[in-house]
Amino acid sequence: MEKQDVIISQHLETSLEQAIAKCPHDRLFVLTDTTTIDKCWPLVKDYACVSGAKMITIASTDENKTLESVCQVWSALQQGGATRHSLLINLGGGMVTDLGGFAASTYKRGIKYINIPTTLLSMVDASVGGKTGFNFGGLKNEIGVFNNASSVILDTRFLQTLDYDNIASGYAEMLKHGLISNTDNWAELLGFDIAEIDYERLQQLVAKSVGIKEQVVLVDPTEKGLRMILNYGHTIGHALESLAMEENRTVLHGYAVAWGLVAELYLSVVICGFPTEKMRQTVQYIKQRYGVFSFDCKQYDRLYELMRHDKKNEGDTINFSLLGNVGDIRLKQTATKEQIFEALDFLREG
Ligand code: GLY
Repeated sequence: MEKQDVIISQHLETSLEQAIAKCPHDRLFVLTDTTTIDKCWPLVKDYACVSGAKMITIASTDENKTLESVCQVWSALQQGGATRHSLLINLGGGMVTDLGGFAASTYKRGIKYINIPTTLLSMVDASVGGKTGFNFGGLKNEIGVFNNASSVILDTRFLQTLDYDNIASGYAEMLKHGLISNTDNWAELLGFDIAEIDYERLQQLVAKSVGIKEQVVLVDPTEKGLRMILNYGHTIGHALESLAMEENRTVLHGYAVAWGLVAELYLSVVICGFPTEKMRQTVQYIKQRYGVFSFDCKQYDRLYELMRHDKKNEGDTINFSLLGNVGDIRLKQTATKEQIFEALDFLREG
């Protein structure tokens, strides 16, 4: 994969000018969704470097992360005269950067793209590391390709447009990065108050969090080994998210990840000897800030079935990425159905 520049921007216009200059192009396109066209594009639209750009706007939210939306982007590129040498800027959350990244990676076998993530979730996770794609057949990110953006520009001013739920959603991925890295990072994250945000401090934490993800992705860009640890909390988290989608309940990705972390911390204790006191502190933080996902034991079989579709699995075994301690990574761990159901009990009651 082409190398990706991740820029923690102090001045968005300069960062964007430099990122665009790195990608000589004939035509420029900007992808937004119906939210970021109003909330984020106004901060960018008067920059000389985007003058004359053709706009593409798709419906917002994860339910629209579909093949139909991808087709809409491909059609707009085609109708706007995009060639192999055109450039796409994705301005939005993870839905826009994942889907726009996929549309760019496949249009005429691939054009360059730049990500400007506007949510905390897309800053610390989705827009970095080259995973692109869309939901299919009721499963999240089922179809996609690995292909890096040329540049990812992080400007934390966008975070000031977010409500509590969207900050909390992104923060769950940061907690995951803390858990998989080291005790200092983990403790620092548990000490930060997402209800009373100090944005300067948050910018430093975001930079550190993205750095952790970059280190992992550099070692294993296509998830053959180490990168699987970025799925910590996601095997159960994705199943909860898919269940919620089936039941037409709105659950933000990071909330499902936070609840998935609780259940997979339980598995980490039982299977890998993760220290119970550190589990207790993390679970307490999550319960206080993310509340609980309401479900009952009648839904366990369906959740188990959804976990069997996880992309990390080989054959019929459900693979988990777990931890023996903060920063002590244990890949390809298996849990019995009984242990998984106990973890779901723990999530409901713990
Ligand atoms: N979101 C997990 C990864 O990028 O690998």
